[in-house]
Amino acid sequence: MARTFFVGGNFKMNGSVESVKQIIDNLNKADLPSNVEVVIAPPAPYLGLAVATSKQKTVSVGAQNVFDKASGAYTGEISPDQVKDLGGKWTLTGHSERRTIIKESDEFIASKTKFALDQGLSVILCIGETLEERKADVTLDVCARQLDAVSKIVSDWTNIVVAYEPVWAIGTGLAATPDDAQETHKGIRAHLAKSIGQDQAEKVRILYGGSANGKNAPDFKDKADVDGFLVGGASLKPEFIDIIKSRL
Ligand code: G3P
Repeated sequence: MARTFFVGGNFKMNGSVESVKQIIDNLNKADLPSNVEVVIAPPAPYLGLAVATSKQKTVSVGAQNVFDKASGAYTGEISPDQVKDLGGKWTLTGHSERRTIIKESDEFIASKTKFALDQGLSVILCIGETLEERKADVTLDVCARQLDAVSKIVSDWTNIVVAYEPVWAIGTGLAATPDDAQETHKGIRAHLAKSIGQDQAEKVRILYGGSANGKNAPDFKDKADVDGFLVGGASLKPEFIDIIKSRL
């Protein structure tokens, strides 16, 4: 089945009012393909600015993380409703930096994913293995464990996009080869078919993330189970537009 090509830009903890304005201005000026869904995730302080300045119909704004409560005494946290209040439509959950640095558990990530969906956001659910896990040949076991935590409490995956991000490829300049990515994505989709059903598994977009850039993005073009990219460093650069156009 034809899944819409999807490109996410995760700015991480980078940027300023000026740089976010510049990135959005570049996107506004670009002739973007109408069949590519784009989501940009600036740092939370700039979410409202991104929504207010973005003019492209195919570009939505999201958060990099949300909490699993609507409001209350949770200092420093952000609720899905607050993201929506600013015009955001998406959030990432489970990014490997939150799993490894902030020590978020699979169960907490699943709870946040479910809550965000229940509150009306769409979710880019990030999964992926560490270098040690890859060397131990347990990549798909790790991805399955991370996915199962969510499928245990979420049955409708209509508004979930999965981002497979091998931790060893993030920020290293060393992307997975298109063939390796395709093999892992195929395994992820096969696992989803068992947990959420074949029909839903066929519809879920599975993005590749980890040193994707304007140069290597076209190499993934013919990989049937790679439905797009979740981009970090390159989303801050003009080449982000090349990645969005890489399927043309
Ligand atoms: O969420 C996307 C990110 O983890 C990938 O980072 O800089 O390797 O594209 P980067």
